[in-house]
Amino acid sequence: MKYSIPFLISIIFLMSCNQQKKEPTGSTKLNNNNAFANVNDRAWWKEAVVYQIYPRSFKDSDGDGIGDLKGLTGKLDYVKSLGVDIVWLNPIYGSPNADNGYDISNYDDIMKEFGTMADFDVLLAQMHKRGLKLVMDLVVNHCSDEHEWFKQARSSRTNKYRNYFHWWPAERGKPAFRPGSFEVDGSGWRYDTLTNSYYLHYFSYKQPDLNWENPELRKEIYAMMNRWFKKGVDGFRMDVIPVIAKDTSFPVITQKELDEKYGGGWFTYFASTPAVHTYLQEMNKEVLSKYDIMTLAEGAGTTKATAMNFVDPDRHELDMSYHFEGVDIGYEKGAYKKMNPNWSLPEFKNVYSAWDSVFANKGWGTIYLGNHDQPRMVTRWGNDAPEFRDASSKMLTTFLLSMRGTPYYYYGDELGMTNIKFDKIEDYRDIEMMAEYGKVKNAGGDLKAFLETQKNGGARDNGRTPMQWDSLANAGFTTGIPWLKVNDNKNVINVAAAEKNANSTLHYFRKMIKLRKDNIDLLVYGKYTLLDAPNADVYAYTRETDKQKVLVLLNFKNKIAVFDKGKMQLGNEMINNMQNLKIEGTKVMLQPYQACIVKLN
Ligand code: NOJ
Repeated sequence: MKYSIPFLISIIFLMSCNQQKKEPTGSTKLNNNNAFANVNDRAWWKEAVVYQIYPRSFKDSDGDGIGDLKGLTGKLDYVKSLGVDIVWLNPIYGSPNADNGYDISNYDDIMKEFGTMADFDVLLAQMHKRGLKLVMDLVVNHCSDEHEWFKQARSSRTNKYRNYFHWWPAERGKPAFRPGSFEVDGSGWRYDTLTNSYYLHYFSYKQPDLNWENPELRKEIYAMMNRWFKKGVDGFRMDVIPVIAKDTSFPVITQKELDEKYGGGWFTYFASTPAVHTYLQEMNKEVLSKYDIMTLAEGAGTTKATAMNFVDPDRHELDMSYHFEGVDIGYEKGAYKKMNPNWSLPEFKNVYSAWDSVFANKGWGTIYLGNHDQPRMVTRWGNDAPEFRDASSKMLTTFLLSMRGTPYYYYGDELGMTNIKFDKIEDYRDIEMMAEYGKVKNAGGDLKAFLETQKNGGARDNGRTPMQWDSLANAGFTTGIPWLKVNDNKNVINVAAAEKNANSTLHYFRKMIKLRKDNIDLLVYGKYTLLDAPNADVYAYTRETDKQKVLVLLNFKNKIAVFDKGKMQLGNEMINNMQNLKIEGTKVMLQPYQACIVKLN
């Protein structure tokens, strides 16, 4: 049989556009006889490991000191070599960069510093060629004040785009207080002279909130999402998505009401409007249901009681959500991301165990220990002192990759990259840090002490420093002046050195991913059971199917710690970040930061 060339080309084209048709994601059911496994449908995004890349800091190809798409494309073999499946890329759209891309001025363009749409097309094609999927950041609670919609909207009260945003006419007096996260005065309203009105911005004044009550706005957003999916992207991580639906009567809210009605404070209040589910169901119908893609909600303000509403497959909204309870542990109340070094491991275990049970029978969870809004995981949850850094990084990697739920792993954590611990405010670039510093200054606070708290605390630039490729100038990240300083420890912590060292955290990460992939039923879907909850040093749990059961032991402390195995019969070790387990009677003696997954007979 002969086929014409145009016919063959169209077949190849259709095959390459696999994102444009809906494939059943959950076609293979888990064996229902497997009483121990979560019997949700399988899906590629449940079995995947996600690697998050902050594009500004990954690899610069043109010497301007800012990471870019060509730089990233040049490093895809490295990304692939890790064994990860999906890359989540922080925003790369047109943006004046008030908040490093979380202020979008053009959703259909690429930020100048990052390159062009042609560079993006190459990046995506090269990722797909390697079997990697690309998840973009979707920032639609707000855009930039430099977006054409906002420029039009602020030009007159009768402009067609006026209703794309939230306005409060000044003749009604001052609007009720709403917080603006990145403002020194803390206000989420900004007065705009031209039309004598205030506009709402939950983040900086450069990020006006979009009005989701307006069907025209929603239509534009869905069309934009469809355009990206037609290009072939594999999903969206949705920035602060629960807050798109607000109480637009903007009532006065007292602190007492916030505490009593909205235990989680402002974010719980912001996320409390049920209309969010109407919008997400509409989005699902108009966009998401048409493609074989994945979605992840940044679950700001969601709780164990509300998270399921976003990811219950029967509701047809989103696939996954990530909670903040884990990354909020240890932050002292009333201080900006000040980390209490004596945070409690039992609390940590409780939080992760409780969230596991939320999705035990339905829906799907996520696991992460750091991202671009958090400090480096090893500094925060492990120990970044040279003698413990390696072991504690590996221990945390063991945790992330042996829990149920999709793991989100942050670039550089595979090397054990640490907080940079700046001494001076001049070294910081982050809008949030600037605002917090300004608040302390205005209140006449101790600025030096504040900066000290951020060394081991949550200043976001701690986790945004350039990727450490080698020990040469600027860690091989750029030939120019990096937009944010490179950590001095690049001489020791870098990809080139880690590749050469068979015992490095990098190789351990690859090994741990392989272990997860070789044991999908067990480590992805298998039942999770917490053991010895009050143990202040060791996090111990089992994962099991009806065929197999393993014990995971993680020593979170810098000292020998004991786990009493009782009658458990330990079999072969599947992975261990150091020497074999030392057992004395029923006591397993774990070395500082030791991690081990061991079969149970
Ligand atoms: C959450 C993002 O993760 C953060 O980086 C950003 O600043 C805010 N949302 C505002 O978009």
